[in-house]
Amino acid sequence: MPEMGRVVVRPVSSLAGECTVPGDKSISHRALILASQAVGESTLGGLSGGEDVRDTCRVLRALGVTAGEWGDDPLTVAGVGRGGWKEPAGVLDFGNSGTGIRLMAGMLAAHPFFCVLTGDSYLRRRPMMRVVEPLRLMGASIDGRREGRFPPLAIRGGGLKARAYRTPVASAQVKSALLLAGLLAEGETELIEPALSRDHTERMLRFLGVDAVSSGTTVRLRGGQSWEGRDLAVPGDPSSAAFLLAAALIVPGSQVTVRGVCVNPTRTGFLDVVRAMGGDISLSGETEACGEPVADITARSSTLRGTRVPPEMVPRAIDEFPILAVLALFAEGTTVFSGAAELRVKESDRISTMASELGRLGGRVTERPDGLVLEGGGTLRGNACRSHGDHRVAMALAVAACALPGETAVEDTDCVNTSFPGFWDLLNSLGADIAADQGEEPSSLSP
Ligand code: S3P
Repeated sequence: MPEMGRVVVRPVSSLAGECTVPGDKSISHRALILASQAVGESTLGGLSGGEDVRDTCRVLRALGVTAGEWGDDPLTVAGVGRGGWKEPAGVLDFGNSGTGIRLMAGMLAAHPFFCVLTGDSYLRRRPMMRVVEPLRLMGASIDGRREGRFPPLAIRGGGLKARAYRTPVASAQVKSALLLAGLLAEGETELIEPALSRDHTERMLRFLGVDAVSSGTTVRLRGGQSWEGRDLAVPGDPSSAAFLLAAALIVPGSQVTVRGVCVNPTRTGFLDVVRAMGGDISLSGETEACGEPVADITARSSTLRGTRVPPEMVPRAIDEFPILAVLALFAEGTTVFSGAAELRVKESDRISTMASELGRLGGRVTERPDGLVLEGGGTLRGNACRSHGDHRVAMALAVAACALPGETAVEDTDCVNTSFPGFWDLLNSLGADIAADQGEEPSSLSP
């Protein structure tokens, strides 16, 4: 299916099949960044083919790193050694990727040169002070729009001193930026989070032989350690798998298995919430890849009931809220998300975009400052809706539409390529009915 801005989704009677999804986006970023500063060569299998990871790879090339052709599987990366990046001649463009810009800002802050980091219009609205402030405390000179709150950021790095830091939000991007900076800093970095965020950076560091010690929500790391290149295989992205599994849960008579998915406990909140809703979801074929647990996940159509998703669950399901909101509309009773204000600073304000777009589909959704209240059932029906440039909103709406009467048009869907190229074809191969509509006039959306 060609790239498209608008898709038309029609309901289907069932979905069935087995498939894989692209490599995990978070792990792919870390694999590339750490391979670029390893001693010697790495081969990275199963990298996410999404635009976010491609953009990080492009930035690494601009910093003097040599890698194979984008799309090679595995991709070969020639490490330049710890602290070995070179001053880029131009601006570093991270596209839509919050993970790319924040993680790279951490490592760039430790390099003694000048660089400018920017991204697309969505990324330039996302908060950066959460990484800028602690990196300044370590000694980096960072400026940016609105005193460094928003990209573009200008960094003149080098000479960092490691320190202890308590992150105000449970954010793996902040934690990872500081761990990457800490690797190149003098002394010991200690990071304490309010709750454990995804721990892929720590796991990958240990996989590479770096001494990074985790205990509860604290990580400690000594600066100055080096690591060698390795061959690794990135497991499937659970945040991408969630869309396919959710589709199987809500389309009657369905059964879908996604093979080789990362089931790191910091990422499995979706599975726990689905089980609390009465969803039939099971794991098999457990194994391990690059220090991460991996399994095949099967979901079958289920009668769902509403649930309360408590604040403690938020870091473990942070990227799955758009699709969990869809499940809530197909459940009996009320679902409440709370303590999830971080959703407001994702690729879109996911509290407000999901409330408005699910409302267009007939959902009864109330917005709260830190979450959503969703009433299941009611008169859900297909309609025109849009992604707000957010890949996960686009995919969540399309999944909902597979189980809704009538036709749904989802506008502005090219963003899906940031994380899940091939999503439309894959969902169709499981039995969905989704067509590209390159209809030149975007339909006017009813309020
Ligand atoms: C990510 C961390 C999370 C997540 C994002 C990827 C990462 O963001 O939402 O999609 O790879 O570290 P925060 O760190 O802002 O919570």
